[in-house]
Amino acid sequence: MAVILMGHTKGGVGKSTGAVQVAIGRALQGKDVLLVNGDRQSSSFKSIARRDEAGVLPSVTVVAYPEGDQLRTQVLRMAGKYDDVIIDAGGRDSTALRHAMMIADVMLVPIAPRDYDLDALEDELVPLIEEIQAARGDNPLPVYAYLNMADPNRLSSDNIAARKVIAGFPQLTLTELNIVGRKAISGASANGLAVSEMRPRDPKAVSEVGALLSALFD
Ligand SMILES: Nc1ncnc2c1ncn2[C@@H]1O[C@H](COP(=O)(O)OP(=O)(O)OP(=O)(O)O)[C@@H](O)[C@H]1O
Ligand SMILES: [Mg+2]
Repeated sequence: MAVILMGHTKGGVGKSTGAVQVAIGRALQGKDVLLVNGDRQSSSFKSIARRDEAGVLPSVTVVAYPEGDQLRTQVLRMAGKYDDVIIDAGGRDSTALRHAMMIADVMLVPIAPRDYDLDALEDELVPLIEEIQAARGDNPLPVYAYLNMADPNRLSSDNIAARKVIAGFPQLTLTELNIVGRKAISGASANGLAVSEMRPRDPKAVSEVGALLSALFD
């Protein structure tokens, strides 16, 4: 069992999109998954509601705890009952994000390769990671970054420039994952579907999300 956090202090980077894909992807691998919406916006909660309304199986259990204290208490209480717990923490430096960072086994940070997203690393995310690592003491949180909404050309100047900036922060481990901005990915997540369940099938989207799952669980 692992508690996986999709987190960033910045909004709109793909936390909910990633959380929904990982949660459904694991459910499709036969795992009993708990998705925790730690955001007032409840986007991942709504996505799973659409899946349920459409009667798509397997189902994913979803709960919403926008308050940090409650999120922490409830996740610790329920974690052992599930194979995987995926937390979709809200953007901003919220109590839900802080508490989730205290209890997670691993944190994934989607980063869009655009200038203003990258500024938020230095100004907000990196200081928060340092604060949480100090509080966690001898149980540090592994923090992995990946490019989301990346340019389709892996070697585009934006992708390369973003990788360079991220690599400059030792507080984050930069992965090779490159999730491109694709309609199939946004469409699938909004409707509570895995990219592999979307028709017409987008093989590149399937392969990119598959790489994210493999990086986490293989
Ligand atoms: N790989 C992708 N390809 C295409 N669209 C994407 C991708 N990732 C995210 N998006 C789109 O970008 C927008 C923001 O994504 P999402 O809601 O997942 O971000 P978030 O970090 O959860 O935002 P918030 O902080 O508001 O909760 C959404 O419209 C989503 O569909
Ligand atoms: Mg979100």
